[in-house]
Formats: sequence, structure tokens, C-alpha cells
Amino acid sequence: MIRVMLGAVALVVGMGAAQALEPDEQRGLTFVKTNCAMCHAIGKYGDSPLPLAPPFRTLHEFYPIDSLQEALAEGIVTGHPSMPQFELEPDQVEDVIAYLKTLE
Ligand code: HEC
Repeated sequence: MIRVMLGAVALVVGMGAAQALEPDEQRGLTFVKTNCAMCHAIGKYGDSPLPLAPPFRTLHEFYPIDSLQEALAEGIVTGHPSMPQFELEPDQVEDVIAYLKTLE
């Protein structure tokens, strides 16, 4: 019986930890909220405000999130004129990548 209760406590604590963002993830979230959220869905749910823009939670289905690191640092220049070009500082890139990984 005690073992069952401990298991339940561990489960609840574990779930709490999964939802709280690390500081770098939190900074990444703040950044994408400011710079990307007007077009992309940035959370676990919801549609992109701009239907053309892929929701961030789907990006890892197309390529490993780490491969975005370079693109973000150099400025994403896709063949998509509707997306503005960004150049991020290296630590901003790491924050955004860290946040995107929480969506996988
Ligand atoms: C003004 C609208 C707009 C903003 C702001 C915007 N995007 Fe986009 N983004 C788009 C559109 C539209 C597409 C899809 C273009 C297409 O596939 O034709 C896209 C595609 C992407 C892709 C996929 C690229 C590919 O080649 O598959 C990534 C990654 C991305 N955006 C990241 C970001 C990040 C990170 C930010 C914030 C720093 C951001 N976007 C801000 C409109 C926007």
C-alpha cells in the first residue's frame, strides 16, 4: 500500500517537472512569442494564425530540431517571401531550440 502511494506521488511530481520550463526554454518561449507567434502556432495546441506557417510542434516531424540551429543563426532564408528573415544571437538560438524541443 505504501509503495502504491509513493508511486502516485512520484508520478505527480514527475508530471509537474515535465510542465515547468527550464530557464533557457522559458527564454526561447518568450522570444518566439514576440517574434514568431503572429504567424506560427508556438504551443502544443492550436492553429497557426497564418495558415501557411507550420505550427512549431510539427517542425520536428520534418527534420531534427538541431538542424534548425544553423538556419536560425544565419537567418532563415527559405524560398518563402512571406516569412521575414531573422538573425539571432547564438544564445537566443540555443534558447529557441531548447523551447522547440519541449514540443516534440
Ligand atoms: C510574417 C509571418 C511569419 C513570421 C513572423 C515567422 N514565420 Fe516562419 N514561416 C512563415 C511561413 C508562411 C512559413 C511557411 C512558408 C512555406 O512553407 O511556404 C514559415 C516557415 C517556417 C519554418 C519552416 C521552414 C522550412 O523550410 O521548412 C521555420 C523553421 C520557421 N518558419 C521558423 C520561424 C521562426 C523561428 C520565427 C520567429 C523567429 C518565424 N518563423 C517567424 C511565416 C512566418
